Amino acid sequence: MTVSLPQLLASALAGMLAIAIPSRAPAQQPQPEAHPPLYLGAAWYPEQWPESRWDADLTLMEQAHIRFVRVGEFAWSTMEPTEGNYDFTWLDHAIDDAARHHIYVVLGTPTAAPPAWLTEKYPGTLRIDENGRRDGHGNRQQFNWANPKYRELARDIAERMAKRYGHNPNVIGWQIDNEYARESYGPDVQKQFDEWCREHYKTLDNLNTRWTTAYWSESYTDWSQIPIQEKYGNPGLLLSWKRFVSDTWRSYQKNQLDVIRANADPSQFITTNMMGWFDGYDHYTVSQDLDLASWDDYVGRGHLDPYRNGAAHDLTRGFLRKNFWVMETQPGFVNWAPVNTALDKGEVRAMAWHDIGHGADAVEYWQWRSDLNGQEELHGTLVGADGTPVPLYSEVKQIGAEFAKAGPALAGTSPHSQVAILHDYDSRWAINWQRHNQNFDPITQIVSYYKPLREVAQSIDIVQDTAPLDGYKLVVAPGLEVLTDAAAKNLIAYVEQGGHLVLGQRSAMKNGDNGLQPERAPGPLASLLGGRVDQFYAIDDKPGDTVPVTGVWGSTTSQIWAEQLSTSKPDTEVLMRYGKSNGWLDGQPAAITRKVGKGRITYIGAWMDDAAMLNAAKWMTKISGVTPAFGPVPAGVDVYPREGNGKKIFILVNFNKAPETVALPSPMHGVLDGKTVSAVTLAHYGVAVLEAK
Ligand code: GLA
Repeated sequence: MTVSLPQLLASALAGMLAIAIPSRAPAQQPQPEAHPPLYLGAAWYPEQWPESRWDADLTLMEQAHIRFVRVGEFAWSTMEPTEGNYDFTWLDHAIDDAARHHIYVVLGTPTAAPPAWLTEKYPGTLRIDENGRRDGHGNRQQFNWANPKYRELARDIAERMAKRYGHNPNVIGWQIDNEYARESYGPDVQKQFDEWCREHYKTLDNLNTRWTTAYWSESYTDWSQIPIQEKYGNPGLLLSWKRFVSDTWRSYQKNQLDVIRANADPSQFITTNMMGWFDGYDHYTVSQDLDLASWDDYVGRGHLDPYRNGAAHDLTRGFLRKNFWVMETQPGFVNWAPVNTALDKGEVRAMAWHDIGHGADAVEYWQWRSDLNGQEELHGTLVGADGTPVPLYSEVKQIGAEFAKAGPALAGTSPHSQVAILHDYDSRWAINWQRHNQNFDPITQIVSYYKPLREVAQSIDIVQDTAPLDGYKLVVAPGLEVLTDAAAKNLIAYVEQGGHLVLGQRSAMKNGDNGLQPERAPGPLASLLGGRVDQFYAIDDKPGDTVPVTGVWGSTTSQIWAEQLSTSKPDTEVLMRYGKSNGWLDGQPAAITRKVGKGRITYIGAWMDDAAMLNAAKWMTKISGVTPAFGPVPAGVDVYPREGNGKKIFILVNFNKAPETVALPSPMHGVLDGKTVSAVTLAHYGVAVLEAK
């Protein structure tokens, strides 16, 4: 490995700071040891530093109880400095050195940052942006994810890594690429998309009918005429493009995944780091080939919103319906928000336990040490450019000590919920393409149901609309605007088998082609409901435009959206009615419910405030027999249940400024302090980890 100027500078700095740098010990086979049930980690970039510095970094990591580093995901130019000329010795050393400090390694394949020689020699691998401009070197993610040559090169480097490290006992897993995000729009991709359309629609007649292309003379007489449309276009085409994008990310990933799997020990997991609410592709499509879901959890500006962030955790847990990893999170602050505020003292620890509470088994800080140069110089880290810890380091060290202590109690446990919220990318895209009211944000809509339900039930799963639902007492679908035939079948079966399905505003307006259902919403569910949406109305945010709503959930207003419902069966009950407003809605049903055998189906057409939604959540959980996972806690205290292996663990975090006392439903063992208690008092950002006896 060549030594660059920044490395020399770093080395000089390290010397000035008199950090003891032992000489490199001969490479040795790392000793496997018990894997910690909870992993604390850091993103480490040894390729940016001289090897003589590594031991000092790893010593500081070990002292903070960091048990894994993610390495390599942007290091292609160090692994293959020129075409066909590979250098992995530095990576061998980094993995060995980490092992000596009891630190495992997750290897990232470096394909999100192709080297300059590659983009120079194979310019066809560069992506073409939305404006037809070819990307260039100097940032990252400049590759075309559909390009066969790029895939060949990516597969080669991934395969070489897998052959070399696939059986290294200190390598515990693989991250493919990094944050898939950017598509390419050139003629080659256009051709692949047209081919995708042919495969999915078989005939142009079929496609033309299902997309209603007679509208605006869009009818196609040749597959090659179908354009790429991204934001404004035929709804069937827009949805097909997104499905093509998702399938192409899946095959992009599979290209590397197959060679890793063929060469790696099955105990090494394969994941990729996703991005919470990001909707650039369908995460269910892409995650189905992975062993583990993981995501990069950044607050950006301001403070942690435990509900919105918690829902993103539960969303990620739902990709594979099991525990997940937080593959990146901010050490205090980021560098890309409009104002890069730092999390308060104690908030990083509160957030780490909030992550674990939602089913994360690992929390990794991005990144370990400030780069001496590069686009992200000012991002939060645990160690400064000078090689010494920043103030946050001691808090992270405390988190590490606590993870080590609580690990055995949390081993084999995960969240289990009686309530599921259904989530669907087709629907989010469809709503965003035609919001009808600019304030109709699908994520805000999901959270408007998630928050009160979580307050009452204290644990929620977020799953795809085709997921198995039989274990849930209550299933809530806030904005399932696109209802595919498969999802409709799943939901009907759920209700017929005794479940309670609650549909929120805009449910089932559309079919799997993003076309309107030929019957009124909720389309194929309307006869089960014994009711339908007669009309929908966008509600402006001007004073006086909100619509009063009254009924069993109290008196409130409908904002953003209001659907005029009607009943068609004598046993369909009206739960809420609109008051006087635009005339059309006056006195009309706003929420209806119908018992179907042992099951029930409910439709909510109004977008109500938090207080009414809390009453709605209380009603729907009670009528469905949902019991809270823990019991009463003061508002602002979050409770996270995890169970398994015969254990029941509750993590409590106080997000209030004032201390809060929580009476426990029964005496519990304090996992962090070893005391058996029947109540706990938590300071601001205070944490308790309790095991039910
Ligand atoms: C993303 C990337 C990282 C880094 C961080 C900064 O999550 O994966 O490489 O750029 O953002 O917040």
